[in-house]
Amino acid sequence: IVDIKGGPDEGLEKLGHSQVVRGWVRTIRVQSTVTFIEVNDGSCLSNMQCVVNPDAEGYDQVEAGLITTGASIHVQGVLVESQGSKQKVELKIEKIETIGKSDPSFPIQKKRVSREFLRTKAHLRPRTNTFGAVARVRNALAYATHKFFNENGFVWISSPIITASDCEGAGEQFCVTTLIPSAQEPLDSKVDAIPKTEDGSIDWSQDFFGKPAFLTVSGQLNGETYATALTDVYTFGPTFRAENSNTSRHLAEFWMIEPELAFANLEDDMACATAYLQYVVKFILENCKEDMDFFNTWIEKGIVDRLSDVVEKDFVKLSYTDAVELLLRAKKKFEFPVKWGCDLQSEHERYITEETFGGSPVIITDYPKDIKAFYMRQNDDGKTVAAMDVLVPRVGELIGGSQREERLDYLEARLDDLKLNKESYWWYLDLRRYGSVPHAGFGLGFERLVQFATGIENIRDAIPFPRTPGSAES
Ligand code: 4AD
Ligand code: MG
Repeated sequence: IVDIKGGPDEGLEKLGHSQVVRGWVRTIRVQSTVTFIEVNDGSCLSNMQCVVNPDAEGYDQVEAGLITTGASIHVQGVLVESQGSKQKVELKIEKIETIGKSDPSFPIQKKRVSREFLRTKAHLRPRTNTFGAVARVRNALAYATHKFFNENGFVWISSPIITASDCEGAGEQFCVTTLIPSAQEPLDSKVDAIPKTEDGSIDWSQDFFGKPAFLTVSGQLNGETYATALTDVYTFGPTFRAENSNTSRHLAEFWMIEPELAFANLEDDMACATAYLQYVVKFILENCKEDMDFFNTWIEKGIVDRLSDVVEKDFVKLSYTDAVELLLRAKKKFEFPVKWGCDLQSEHERYITEETFGGSPVIITDYPKDIKAFYMRQNDDGKTVAAMDVLVPRVGELIGGSQREERLDYLEARLDDLKLNKESYWWYLDLRRYGSVPHAGFGLGFERLVQFATGIENIRDAIPFPRTPGSAES
């Protein structure tokens, strides 16, 4: 028994071998003397075409109509050259067995169903070509991420999910509440058990075993603590944002990759971001060919060539001030007018990457300090900070990073300016008291990377179970 991982097209050298396949039926065509069953086990995009004659063991199950789209089956047969044009080899079945029948209500019967519809069936959508391919490429990107950082001497750090700090200082955090432990209790009594203030409203300041706690918006601050001990580290884990935005690039729960480099400045940070992106994109072009060809044909025409360019060409670098100049000179009418000091909107980001620099990633640096987080290092002009965002076509901001403010007096002054509670950052300030060093890092939204790498338009389709306002079901 041989195992074909790369799909039937790669099986030519295995003609004549015996093969077992366990998977789910995609289609079945019963003809008078022969039945064709396409089976997929998710190991690759291609289905295995199985040819069943009436003399096969278990043929009665075909006759009884047990084998329908969605059913799980176990087949054993011999690999033979295919008569059909879609595949080079097919499996001539000796034995077929139904493992689990599929009810006729199986919702993914037709070859092409809309992605909107499939979002309502998140538990079944991995059985489609698109979502199988996205899952495999997402996995390859995660694998390549760990590979890249480990090959470059970075140590992976687990940052906490529950935290009292607000990394971005933007107040977009979900509160953590301690529910009473019994699962049998009805929800009302769980809510009764939540600490309340005198007026009866929930006392969030008490709620994590007597203290306030939130879901993390970023692992950066924790990453900095380990970078100032192990030099180069990264985090890779789930992060949460309580922003009520319904767009094709925002999730309430998303995964972030956050490297943090000690003894490093903004230039080092940009070099790391560029090398990382080029590495993971090259990895999927080389290792996920079948899935990438599928995206190239069905999701975004030309994506393979575009990604090949990303691997080969330098990224464009532009200061925020120059970017604003460029936008002011643009002939295009923007919905949000631009002026120095404003945050760039997605229409501006897209104009810069798509219409000005022909689809190349663009790194924008040195943003006004007033639109960026408290921890970014102030530049000598007193107005801007050593920040960088990497913008890519269609997705817009893929990476946000900066050199960190390593000077205690500057950092304290900035926290005061922004009226942030210095006491709650006491441990973060300690890093500037004990052996402070210049350091820098960035955060990359993993689902936006999946969007960029596959061409999938909506971020809800780049993660198995999207969490957006109003959706937390399966
Ligand atoms: O720019 P952000 O907010 O930066 C930080 O959180 C820093 N602490 C990162 C760091 O320097 N270590 O977020 C970083 C990236 C964005 O560029 C974007 O790709 C992604 O995270 N992101 C989101 N992705 C999906 N849904 C959301 N709601 C996102 N918010 C940010
Ligand atoms: Mg950002």
